[in-house]
Amino acid sequence: MIHNFNAGPSILPDQVLQEASRAIINFNDSGLSILEIGHRTPLFESVLDEARSLVRELMNLPSDYEVLFLHGGATTQFMTVPLNLLDEAGTAAYIDTGVWSSKAIQYAKQFGKVKVLASSQEANYTYIPKNFSVDPPVTYLHITTNNTIYGTEWHKIPYSNGVPVVADMSSDIFSREMDYSKFDLIYAGAQKNMGAAGTTLVVVKKSLLGKVQRKIPGIMDYQKHIEAGSMLNTPPVFAIYVSMLTLRWLKAQGGTAAIDQLNTKKAALLYDTLDRIPFIKPTVAKEDRSRMNVCFVMKDPALEQPFMDKCKAAGMYGVKGHRSVGGFRISLYNALPLSSVEDIVALIEDFAKTHG
Ligand SMILES: Cc1ncc(COP(=O)(O)O)c(C=O)c1O
Repeated sequence: MIHNFNAGPSILPDQVLQEASRAIINFNDSGLSILEIGHRTPLFESVLDEARSLVRELMNLPSDYEVLFLHGGATTQFMTVPLNLLDEAGTAAYIDTGVWSSKAIQYAKQFGKVKVLASSQEANYTYIPKNFSVDPPVTYLHITTNNTIYGTEWHKIPYSNGVPVVADMSSDIFSREMDYSKFDLIYAGAQKNMGAAGTTLVVVKKSLLGKVQRKIPGIMDYQKHIEAGSMLNTPPVFAIYVSMLTLRWLKAQGGTAAIDQLNTKKAALLYDTLDRIPFIKPTVAKEDRSRMNVCFVMKDPALEQPFMDKCKAAGMYGVKGHRSVGGFRISLYNALPLSSVEDIVALIEDFAKTHG
């Protein structure tokens, strides 16, 4: 039995993998592979239409939002966001909660003024900053809702004082029930909670666009992508198809409300166990803990290798912490079943009996 705790790309529902592999050979009984069909064919158009409408439905988006499936990963959005929204006259506000936010900040500085309102860098990003205020005029406020490397998550959308909120949701998109319309722009690489690497979801409120004067190359211009229905050039056909299947699966599970409950249960089970074991130290303060990435260290570093060996022997993949944090990181994305968490909890308890 294998358990996949990878941080990304990460576990996908079995059903999605089965269906995607069938489509590689024969997509929708067309006799063609999904890899062989033209993107401007009814076959693919129906995939893209369904993917877009599932996003709208699962996020309960009002009609003034557009849904785009683009290339380039979340990293390209670090550039595309300021290129489209920020001009020389404006200032964008960012909260620095880790490597990904810092990269977003570095990219944005190439396009306009950036103010970092708060950072948890001095504590190696083990908490979400709370003492800051957004004082207009500010063009937008940028946050990273879940910090994959450190295991912190915003549990409350910060008060933005009327300033549009932009969020990198790469590692917690569709993991919880929330008012997505509180955000003006959301972006996320698909490879955690919504599919395979290769496509990036962008959800944008139309009224946010068209305010900068600069010339934007077409392929970087949200407005042009909207006009072309995410088909400005050849879209990542297969990655979009896998996203569509993953969103279909999520809807069949009961949508974000049901997955929210399951994710809460999985995270509580694991954190409660970690909190009980005296030689384990979760690295994040309780109020900021991520329900997607659970990070911890051993108080005695000598215990780390034997724990790693035990996980390996039990078929537990992806538990090693990111190199900048060390220790362990167990990722609990949507597709991870509760039984995998129960199994790693049993393993941790067993390890505690022999090493406690
Ligand atoms: C929160 C977050 N933002 C951005 C990225 C970068 O995404 P990509 O590799 O799709 O560019 C990652 C990757 O893990 C991430 O976790």
